[in-house]
Amino acid sequence: MPHILVGNFRRVILISGDVVGVTMILVTGGAGYIGSHCALKLMEAGEDVKVFDSLELGTQHALDVLGREFPDRFKGFVKGDLKEPEDIRRAVTEDVEAVVHFAAYSQVAESMRNPRRYYENNVIGTINLLGAMADARVGMIVFSSTAATYGEPVYTPIDEKHPKAPINPYGATKLIAERIMQDYEKHGIRSARLRYFNVAGADPKGRLGECHDPETHLIPNVLKAAGTGKEFSMFGTDYDTRDGTCVRDYIDVNDLAEAHVLALRYLRNGGRTDCFNLGTNGGSTVREVFAVCRDVVGEDIPLKECLRREGDPAVLVADNRKAREVLGWEPKSTLRDSVARAWAWERTRP
Ligand code: UFG
Repeated sequence: MPHILVGNFRRVILISGDVVGVTMILVTGGAGYIGSHCALKLMEAGEDVKVFDSLELGTQHALDVLGREFPDRFKGFVKGDLKEPEDIRRAVTEDVEAVVHFAAYSQVAESMRNPRRYYENNVIGTINLLGAMADARVGMIVFSSTAATYGEPVYTPIDEKHPKAPINPYGATKLIAERIMQDYEKHGIRSARLRYFNVAGADPKGRLGECHDPETHLIPNVLKAAGTGKEFSMFGTDYDTRDGTCVRDYIDVNDLAEAHVLALRYLRNGGRTDCFNLGTNGGSTVREVFAVCRDVVGEDIPLKECLRREGDPAVLVADNRKAREVLGWEPKSTLRDSVARAWAWERTRP
């Protein structure tokens, strides 16, 4: 039967338009906050998805949602640890077309206290994954990277050419993993490395949301204070910004997930290894975020102004033009949308 070959030459599309052969996407860390939203979005876009996760930070709830929402497209779950080469080999089977790689530790402060934990999981784990991909001849990876690869901004908004000088082990591990992926292009693995700014929000239908323990992020912490009546601690009110608090670029998790679907399409269309900032091109101060949260919640939230948190740059805002132009990405949600969905999740989450 006539057919054409696209992508890494292992995906076969018949003239009739039907896809046969290997079309499954492996999502590492697919039971975590961002990974589960992306797995859902991939299946909404018609992809078959398999999840690899250790469940150390990911949740059974997220897996239940993926299986319940898409019983035909959710192709199963492999429980394993990326640091164990045999575990990831069990997941990277020959029917996998591409990998979307989230599995990692991502707490900046913890990475300062325990760098080894970060280098082992985020760097050696990625090496194990790439080795398994090379052996199974899986030729595409979309990678969850971070604005922390840039370090202290030299100019803002930050574009992809900005110097990369991470100031904490977390950012360093992601930059090293990016570099390793770049070197694998010559060995048949192309990568789209996506540098997230501040990810926020939850699924609009309330199925998934953020669950970190301990929680360090701004929006969930403000909403927790609203829910429990405990004071929210605002770190640093003497920065050189419009109201003295830090400016961050909050990108909605659903818009972020959409960028992964587009990055996969980019690689399928033959796109070269490249990196893309995922942010909104704009920023909000901590006080502005707090005000939006108070507005959404509809009542006062107890607030304590505290000293600066170590390692927080004053301003981190993305220049996202490259993702718009090359991937055709267009973030749609407002900060208020993200906060409203996060608040809905906070009140109903299991
Ligand atoms: N903040 C508070 N109180 C809190 C939590 C945060 O005032 O309880 C402030 C922080 O000091 C900072 C802002 O809110 O000014 C945002 O802090 P987050 O912890 O929500 O996010 P970060 O900007 O520190 O970190 C994010 C990602 C990291 C990534 C980093 C890139 O969470 O994974 O951006 O620099 F590394």
